[in-house]
Amino acid sequence: MNSLNKYFPISKKISIDKFISNALYDKNYGYYSKKIPFGKNGDFITSPEISSLFSEMIALWIVAFWEHLERPKIFNVVELGPGNGQMCSTLVKIFKKFPAFFNSTNIFLYEKSKVLENLQKKNLHPFKINWIKKFEKIKKGPVIFLGNEFFDAIPIKQFKKINNILYEKYLKLENNSKITTIFKKADSKTIIELKKYNLLKEQHFIEFPKQGLAELNLIVNTIKKLNGGLLLIDYGFLKQQSKNTLQSVKNHKRNMIFNHVGNADITSLVNFNLLDNYLRKKKLEVNNVVTQEFFLKKIGIINRAEMVSKKMNFKEKSDLYLRLQRLLNPKQMGELFKVISAFKFKKKFSLGFI
Ligand SMILES: C[S@@+](CC[C@H](N)C(=O)[O-])C[C@H]1O[C@@H](n2cnc3c(N)ncnc32)[C@H](O)[C@@H]1O
Repeated sequence: MNSLNKYFPISKKISIDKFISNALYDKNYGYYSKKIPFGKNGDFITSPEISSLFSEMIALWIVAFWEHLERPKIFNVVELGPGNGQMCSTLVKIFKKFPAFFNSTNIFLYEKSKVLENLQKKNLHPFKINWIKKFEKIKKGPVIFLGNEFFDAIPIKQFKKINNILYEKYLKLENNSKITTIFKKADSKTIIELKKYNLLKEQHFIEFPKQGLAELNLIVNTIKKLNGGLLLIDYGFLKQQSKNTLQSVKNHKRNMIFNHVGNADITSLVNFNLLDNYLRKKKLEVNNVVTQEFFLKKIGIINRAEMVSKKMNFKEKSDLYLRLQRLLNPKQMGELFKVISAFKFKKKFSLGFI
């Protein structure tokens, strides 16, 4: 079969979000079904692998949240899209330092890719961890959802406004080898949805994370049912700019998105303003979005770095601070990466946000 045929239906026409779904998550040919993308020898590197300080601070933030909830006897931590399990492994190591917390807590991982689920099982053995496909499996106790680079990996829809008429982006496979872009008039249900989130105002190119919001809806419903909250970290923007933000990454380099279909990651920038708007409409308590630099500094990453570096030699110390710099420097990940949190609990939990 021609290599691109695998990602298109028989009609050879497909909306951009369905195409990205196939390119990333097709059970046989999808990028996340074939390859381990993380690390130096992979295609990209994420914060938990840059420095364990990142996950350590998040672990401490979670323990503080549990304290804020007045130490519930049953508590649930759900990591969304845990990748190679690196963050979870560090979380467990820190959680163990707080026995009352550790003994009250169930850890769940929510992963779509079978290949990555198997890798997580290998890397996290013998920790007591549950893999879930449905949040209904969590029956009792408050829950905190946690996701690093979860949303950017969920396919988005794209639209164009011409003479005040909205068109949705579709792709067409020509001669079984060439992908071209076509636009179809958007249906009225979609237009109403985009208007609801104020996405059409002063914009001629619009991105909409329909699948992402469907996931968020499941998360919010679980928080509302069980009490708790969410913490999401990702790269993205606060002000929509009428821009196409889709990008493909292979071997740590950016590519045109059709260049290595099935063999490269495809991501988009997360619209944090939309997430904020969505969560407020769902009547959760939302902290204002902050940058990764702000959040990590506020929860004490510099102090922790000073503490752990005391016993290090010069080479180890330089390595630690170089990695920290990568997480915090506004020119690197400090500003592009943003953090949002939302809660059902009435007593607001603002640690890291003010
Ligand atoms: C960019 S990776 C981030 C991995 C990890 N959190 C990290 O920081 O290294 C995205 C992760 O989300 C998972 N994922 C994407 N969409 C998903 C979905 N709808 N449900 C569950 N997992 C999903 C991917 O398989 C992958 O594990």
